[in-house]
Amino acid sequence: MPRDSHGSMTPGRISPQRPVPASIARPEYVGKAGPAPHVGGDVYDAETVELIRASGRIAAQAIDAAEAAVRPGVTTDELDALVHDFVVSHDAYPSTLGYRGFPKSSCTSVNEVICHGIPDDTVLVEGDLVNIDVTAFANGVHGDLNRTVLVGEASQQAVDLVDRTREALRRGIKAVAPGREVNVIGRAIESYAARFGYGVVRDYTGHGVGRSFHSGLVIPHYDAPRYDDVMVPGMVFTIEPMLTLGGTAADVWADDWTVTTRDKSLTAQFEHTLVVTERGADVLTLS
Ligand code: MF3
Ligand code: CO
Ligand code: CO
Repeated sequence: MPRDSHGSMTPGRISPQRPVPASIARPEYVGKAGPAPHVGGDVYDAETVELIRASGRIAAQAIDAAEAAVRPGVTTDELDALVHDFVVSHDAYPSTLGYRGFPKSSCTSVNEVICHGIPDDTVLVEGDLVNIDVTAFANGVHGDLNRTVLVGEASQQAVDLVDRTREALRRGIKAVAPGREVNVIGRAIESYAARFGYGVVRDYTGHGVGRSFHSGLVIPHYDAPRYDDVMVPGMVFTIEPMLTLGGTAADVWADDWTVTTRDKSLTAQFEHTLVVTERGADVLTLS
């Protein structure tokens, strides 16, 4: 079943695709192999920023609903059902559903799964960490966030990892200011993570988001000077650090989605979508 004899996560059974009412507008990539190239850049006018905020709020409230249901015995597919029903009942489309073939309305990533876990019949047990990542699409724009949740009582190591990963995101957001290069974000995150000896995942990054799910703009979570895009007011992107208790190397399962730490070390992630303001950053994915 969904854990091997060492307690490592293994693939489970994926339930049939959940329907979305025909009245809800789909992103252009649904039913295609992948998205069309992003056009229009990463800077949005104030009106569009408010639409991204509205999508972001739906995604955040969907995570609230799923988070409230997290307990030993619940499956990740049950969490996905709560997310799906919340998003579509608010006239939004769950952006991951049919994105490059992803089959579900959220990503649920347990323990050593770094990101992009597919909701399935995996049963959560006391002490697990589960990340719930939701993106909602409405009025032509996406809002994207995730949180890591403890299942029942977890080890002090796990609690600390989750708290410090949340704090790493907060520090990344604090580093945002117009005129700075995006690499200041990763520098802030990595220097904080290093205090605790945590690994910072490099293979997956923050990204521009808005009219496209992933615009092509890259926001590294580690110190990477070559990402030198200069932040300007109205620029919208995610920050979504993934920290580990061990190494930073990642493996992808045969499902082509599920990403784990190679050393099977525990990992946590938090994500927000934000807009660069005249003074700093404004988070667009609050519930
Ligand atoms: N929401 C994820 C992110 O933060 C992307 C998930 S893509 C999926 O960028 F296809 F895996 F769902
Ligand atoms: Co994202
Ligand atoms: Co996300």
